[in-house]
Amino acid sequence: MCGIVAYIGKKEAYPILIKGLQRLEYRGYDSAGVALLSNGELNLYKKQGKVANLVDFASDKNTTGQIGIAHTRWATHGEPNDKNAHPHSSSNGNLAIIHNGIIENYDVLKEELISRGYVFKSDTDTEVLVHLIDDIQKKEGVWFGEALRIALLSVTGAYAIVVISKDKPDTIVAARKSSPLVIGIGKENDFYLASDATPIVEYTDQVVYMNDEEIAVIDLKDGMKLWNIQDEEKTPYVQHLELQLEALEKGGYEHFMLKEIHEQPRSINDCFRGRLNATEGWVELGGIKDYEQQLINANRVVMVACGTSWHACLVGEYLFEDLARINVEVEYASEFRYRNPIINEGDIVIAVSQSGETADTMAALELAKSKGAIILGICNVVGSSISRITHAGSYTHAGPEIGVASTKAFTAQVTVLTLMALSIAHKKGTMNETKFRTMLAELELIPDKVKKVLENNAHIERIAAEYKDATNALYLGRGSSFPVALEGALKLKEISYIHAEGYPAAEMKHGPIALIDEAMPVFVVATKGTSYEKVVSNIQEVKARKGKIIAIVTEGDEQVKLMADHIIEIPDTDEHLVPLLATVPFQLLSYHMAVMRGCNVDQPRNLAKSVTVE
Ligand code: AGP
Ligand code: GLU
Repeated sequence: MCGIVAYIGKKEAYPILIKGLQRLEYRGYDSAGVALLSNGELNLYKKQGKVANLVDFASDKNTTGQIGIAHTRWATHGEPNDKNAHPHSSSNGNLAIIHNGIIENYDVLKEELISRGYVFKSDTDTEVLVHLIDDIQKKEGVWFGEALRIALLSVTGAYAIVVISKDKPDTIVAARKSSPLVIGIGKENDFYLASDATPIVEYTDQVVYMNDEEIAVIDLKDGMKLWNIQDEEKTPYVQHLELQLEALEKGGYEHFMLKEIHEQPRSINDCFRGRLNATEGWVELGGIKDYEQQLINANRVVMVACGTSWHACLVGEYLFEDLARINVEVEYASEFRYRNPIINEGDIVIAVSQSGETADTMAALELAKSKGAIILGICNVVGSSISRITHAGSYTHAGPEIGVASTKAFTAQVTVLTLMALSIAHKKGTMNETKFRTMLAELELIPDKVKKVLENNAHIERIAAEYKDATNALYLGRGSSFPVALEGALKLKEISYIHAEGYPAAEMKHGPIALIDEAMPVFVVATKGTSYEKVVSNIQEVKARKGKIIAIVTEGDEQVKLMADHIIEIPDTDEHLVPLLATVPFQLLSYHMAVMRGCNVDQPRNLAKSVTVE
């Protein structure tokens, strides 16, 4: 994880860097630091905690300079404290470096450097890089950019790195492998570098996404040049950035998470745009068109993901199997890659990822690709690493998701998977024309129905107040509402720190039922559909043991109302589309419970938005 930002140009760097760090704080927030080059001096300030702590700390310091680098950290090596915060500097104070990623062979390199007299000031893996560059500069008599290139030849692991040096105060050097790095080309012969485009968007819409093993040398006189670590010059591919500044702000909401929950009617609609027409009766996902026939013919599809995105895959499994009759295996990316999975030439592997940067998902895809699979991606962040290594894919178009807890990205992922399943089912003939058209019409109504669910916010907040002090919670659902239960439990755990578990409702009697007493809230999806009666029985089992039932029911439901302690109504819809509606009350419940418990909902402890380490 970690967020990195850098600036080189004629403006004062510090305010640009701090604002950039604040935008990237979702990626990591255990410490922050900045290094600035000013009149031959390299000033470096770093502090444990959030960016705000750094700002306080630096308030009476010299923060002038038109070249600078900055970092917000999510520690992998060495505890989060001042000395482990980035930037790290060389012993002579000439060089400063920021790094996102992990240097896997840091211990060997560190030992070697220590034996040659280098003294380490931190416990990070990153610090080896700065001493290695320094060492190569001294040994080979080369400038620091070349020394970085040589250093990277002996490094294994993942990195996005930016380096500055007192020796060349007009130059910035950056490199990347497996961790993202974007360069914004400013309008005043200036350049902005960052982990994603959010710190860049207000200055320019011209960006270059760096590729693996590329090195960028940016000089105030000569502009930007790209090389690879084998020393071959590369041509930068300049792209137009499609990102609106407003999308990065809270827009009147107290938290990004709340804003993002409320954005879902729009984000689901954006996901449909140009892909669905219920009146004319078609669905088309342009991005995967070239692989449509393979999907239609597939006997088996493997879906890989982590966390919330993995839950979206579980919903996808129900949809693909039920509607398109394709056997789906849903895999945790981290398990898949270490299990010697059976993947044959031409198999289809679909990765689902909001950030498009999750290291485990990337590695699973690389493995599948190396075995000859067709790899497809469903990502939210445009230009992300996963979207670039896949053969084809569909963006979810949910817009930037800043809250660490995923909300609108999940419903957008489920929407794309629904569109895919419908399109395949229709073309394959596993769904007749009438059913297909009815489903499309229903799907088009979902954004308005989500709006109706959101209107229950005040009612949901009252329920949250009643259970905010719970220490445990159970979430139950059947069919495609089982992943909704898992997602509900994950949301509660990650932002309110209440222990919660999701279970298939019928599985409760095989163990978790032992936990039920009068203090245990049990959140159940009990909407109309195939397993309604069965869920009603499960609710009775909970009530018989004095558990508290909070049920999500279909509007007008009378039966569950009589048994449950609280009900939350959602509009009626096709059973396959229930996850798109039933997820929303669970998001709001977690949000309110976490706020009432005084938790930081947008930046929960120990977490980071994109997990770019294994
Ligand atoms: C979601 O609320 C989580 N914070 C987390 O589980 C997340 O979904 C997971 O890390 C996967 O991220 P991705 O979608 O960016 O790949
Ligand atoms: N490995 C570095 C550290 O622990 C960078 C962390 C990261 O990018 O996650 O400081």
